[in-house]
Amino acid sequence: MELSNRLKNLPVQFFANLVNKVTNAVNEGRDVINLGQGNPDQPTPSHIVKALQTAAEDPQNHKYSSFRGLAELKEAAALFYKRQYGVEVDPENEIAILFGAKSGLVELPICLLNDGDLMLLPDPGYPDYLSGAALANVEYETFPLLKENGFLPNYEGISVEQRERAKLMFLNYPNNPTGAIANRSFFEETVRFAKTNNITIVHDFAYGAIGYDRKKPVSFLEVEGSKDIGIEVYTLSKTYNMAGWRVGFAVGNPLIIEALNLIQDHLYCSLFPGIQKAAAIALTEDQECVRELVQLYENRRNTLIKACSKIGWQVDAPAGSFFAWLPTPKGFTSEEFADLLLEKADVAVAPGNGFGKYGEGYVRVGLLVSEDRLIEAVDRIDKLKLFR
Ligand SMILES: Cc1ncc(COP(=O)(O)O)c(C=O)c1O
Repeated sequence: MELSNRLKNLPVQFFANLVNKVTNAVNEGRDVINLGQGNPDQPTPSHIVKALQTAAEDPQNHKYSSFRGLAELKEAAALFYKRQYGVEVDPENEIAILFGAKSGLVELPICLLNDGDLMLLPDPGYPDYLSGAALANVEYETFPLLKENGFLPNYEGISVEQRERAKLMFLNYPNNPTGAIANRSFFEETVRFAKTNNITIVHDFAYGAIGYDRKKPVSFLEVEGSKDIGIEVYTLSKTYNMAGWRVGFAVGNPLIIEALNLIQDHLYCSLFPGIQKAAAIALTEDQECVRELVQLYENRRNTLIKACSKIGWQVDAPAGSFFAWLPTPKGFTSEEFADLLLEKADVAVAPGNGFGKYGEGYVRVGLLVSEDRLIEAVDRIDKLKLFR
């Protein structure tokens, strides 16, 4: 028996290798400080867990959910966009419920592109974007996110040929892995670029809630005309520490929303209604838990950046997301540096080249351990005397 070409063409999971190395070190009994992952470390707020418990006991929720999910959750998502971003959306036609952002991001190229079509992806970028391109059997080209441009794309650098061929483009701010955020004028420029070149925009807003120094990240949908040419993908994974629950939604252009709903009609029968009900509670009840979470990450960020500068490691503070994007010291590739930190300091970080070739020269550090552990990680790195 053989696997299909579609599966054989799936990209190699770069970070599986890192996970193996960390697991081996932990199995040897070493006290590894794992800053390599993107898994929120805090629990889901208790009022959301309680809502799931209550819903789980109601036999109504043991049945199949309607194919396209509960109106209650779509209405909650619409209310959330109105309250948070002042954006009006029609819950029935402009919102699709997703099994987390990842499923929507992987489904979109299958929904919108034909074999051999071109999509544009950020480099560095979230590796799962490549999975959607492979499953849809489409081509992709990347555009660089450079420090000198604030890790935003420079649309002038996108060639005429790329503009003519590309049908779909992914963006993601606050950004994984660079921690950069985008402002309104960047999204206005994006809408102009997309309209002029007839390119659909998908904005991955997975870290939408996490902006520092009181800068609230801007939603792509706040910008006029955005709904004509694109959608935004939101997830509850990071905002409410619900990564294991698998719930998110897409918002925006009704044709794209219909396409997502259509493919999902054939793939699934929506999410467990108990999860949908609890997600609706998360989106509509008091958002104090989110403010506390952002403060926790901001404190960790400040601690990390202070500790790095104390040992002579010149780093920039991220403006959003829960990642810091730190330059490797002279003489090391990203992978060499990450390997050294794991081998000699028992500190795991994600080598930047795993996010694309423009990630070379950086490592990604997650703010997902306590301040004490962050300080200890930097202390251990200091002992390697790389920055003195
Ligand atoms: C940029 C980005 N998009 C999407 C996701 C996936 O989120 P979800 O848990 O909703 O599938 C992640 C998760 O790490 C991410 O970093």
